[in-house]
Formats: sequence, structure tokens, C-alpha cells
Amino acid sequence: MYKWIVRPTLFLFDPERVHYFTTTLLKVLLKTPLVSYLIKSTYRFESPTLEQNVFDILFKNPVGLAAGFDKNAEFYKEMHALGFGFIEIGTVTPKPQSGNPKKRLFRLKEDQAIINRMGFNNKGVIAAIEKLKTKGDIIIGGNIGKNKVTPNEEAIKDYEICFEALHPYVDYFVVNVSSPNTPDLRALQDKKPLLEILSHLQQLNSVKPKRKPILLKIAPDLSNSQLFDIIEIVEETKISGVIATNTTIDRQGLKSKNKTEMGGLSGKPLTARSTEVISFLKQNSKSKFPIIGVGGIHSAEDAIEKFDAGAELVQLYTGFVYEGPQLVKDIKKAYSKKKS
Ligand SMILES: Cc1cc2nc3c(=O)[nH]c(=O)nc-3n(C[C@H](O)[C@H](O)[C@H](O)COP(=O)(O)O)c2cc1C
Repeated sequence: MYKWIVRPTLFLFDPERVHYFTTTLLKVLLKTPLVSYLIKSTYRFESPTLEQNVFDILFKNPVGLAAGFDKNAEFYKEMHALGFGFIEIGTVTPKPQSGNPKKRLFRLKEDQAIINRMGFNNKGVIAAIEKLKTKGDIIIGGNIGKNKVTPNEEAIKDYEICFEALHPYVDYFVVNVSSPNTPDLRALQDKKPLLEILSHLQQLNSVKPKRKPILLKIAPDLSNSQLFDIIEIVEETKISGVIATNTTIDRQGLKSKNKTEMGGLSGKPLTARSTEVISFLKQNSKSKFPIIGVGGIHSAEDAIEKFDAGAELVQLYTGFVYEGPQLVKDIKKAYSKKKS
């Protein structure tokens, strides 16, 4: 039904409007007990074989919603109802910011891809906290970044503000230095600034009554030598793991007319590179830290490839837009079959 009726209808309209329309509609529908029951029972798939203990968190299933979909922690309950095992909110910045001018989100239908240059549009960390106060036992990752107006030399302060504010409300943190849409952000992936930011957050973490796992989200465009640096940084700062990968600036092999738009590319063209990065990190780190695999998962087979490459958990964004909630269920079934 999603692929034959819902998607073709939604794809007639502007992607950013569709995003807010569908998430708001879902919120309304799930408030109606009968519809809520029907939606949940259609997409439910539970099994003890899906459980995963990663960085001391027990995930009921290993399929998560990637950052950027629920930037302001407004829809995580609805996404959880569709079967996701965990939701990553954000990227959240200290102050609210409107992001880049519209239009800034493009479908590349022939390539099963998206290009976005949203630019961390979000309502700020205080607004996110308000929404997270009633999260209950839903596993939430807090993806944090810096405001556009903050120079890189002061970025550490922005990460600190978000970390301190969100600490009581999220289950793990993600330091995002890999978005291509905030000018110069990716320069923070260099060894020196990254060591400074991560060590500082670990320091803040160490004095909390309950420490929260901190992960680093990296770009797929890093060279092998940069990936070796990442492994060293993870080991030196003793952070809990890596999310591989964010969107790419690469444009090879695209067919769609929107391929020349500026921004980060996600979806099918990213599948192979993101899996390659996961394998590289897993092998060269000798499996010393867990990896969340994300990038171009559009089928259960794509997800299994990520697990086989070494990911403990996976996340979806573009595949979920193209395939709908059935994809989450399909991945869970395939994973469960593999485990049993
Ligand atoms: C519209 C859009 C907005 C995104 N915003 C964020 C973001 O704010 N922070 C972040 O870390 N990643 C963001 N991402 C990247 C995704 O979390 C994911 O890493 C990437 O899209 C690759 O996965 P996919 O191919 O399944 O989409 C965004 C992706 C899209 C398509």
C-alpha cells in the first residue's frame, strides 16, 4: 500500500512540506485508538532474538531512526510506534536556528536518493528537552552540533551546552561534526579539534552520577588515513563508538536532474560506501568499539550487509522515505532469522 498508493501521492508535493504533513498526520491518527491499534499491529514484530546489548543499553531491536528526521524530538513516540528500536533526535544546537533558505530538500527519484542542505534547522536544545520529559523507556540518542554563527574555535562550548542540557534526558549522545551543510563543520573531524571536543565531553561525563555513551558520527568522504585517525581518537578518548555514515558530497553515477543541487546526498548511492567504511573501521580497530551502520539501507538485504560488515545496530532515513514502515519490519524479520 505504501509503495503503490501513499508514496506516489506524497511524491507529488514538496518534500519538506510532505515531511511535516505526514508526521503530523501520523500523530493525529495514532491518537485514535482503533487506527493506532491497526497501525501498530500491522508493523509489530517482536522477538527475543532481536534484543541487543550495546554500550550497556538493552535495545529491544537493532533498527533505529537516523538523525535529521525528528530534529526537535516531536515525533519520536510515533516513530517508536512504527517499530523503531531507538530514535536519534537532532541535530540539536544550543540556540534555535532556521537553517538554510528553502528550497533545501530534493528527491532524486531515479537514484532512490535525497539531497539536503537543511543546515541544522531546529528549535534549540531547550525546546528539545521539553519534548523529552515524557519519553518513558523509549531509547533516545541526542545528536548534537554547533550553531552556524559559532566559529569553529568556540565550537566546543556549543557541544558542551547541548551535552549538559540533554544529559538527563537522552540515553546516548552523538557528536555530529560530519554534516556538509554547516560551513566548515567538517574541519572539526581533524584530529586536534576532535580530540579536544571528545575529551572535554568525556570529562564532563565522568562526573555525572550516570555516564551516558558518547558516539562520533563521521562522513563517508574520509580518506583511509583519516579513518585511521578516527580509530586512534576513539581509543584515546575512550568514547563508546562510531556512527558510520552521514551524507556524502560525492555525486558519482547519478541520473536524476536534481543531482547538481548542493548539499549532502543520502540513499541508494551511499549504500556501498557506507558499508565499506563500517568494514574498514571494524577490521582496523580489531572490533574494539561498536558501530551503528547507516547509509542507503533500502531493503532487509542492505541491512544484513551492514550487520555482516560489523555494525551492531543500524539506522534508516532515506530508505524509510522510499520504502515506508514495512522496511523496519522486514529488517527485523531478516535479522531475527539470521540470529535463530
Ligand atoms: C533531510 C535529511 C536531514 C538530515 N539531517 C541530519 C542531521 O541533522 N544530523 C545528522 O547527523 N544527520 C542528518 N542526516 C543524515 C542521516 O542521519 C543519515 O546519516 C544519512 O542520510 C544516511 O542515511 P540514509 O541513506 O538512510 O538516509 C540527514 C539526512 C537527511 C536526508
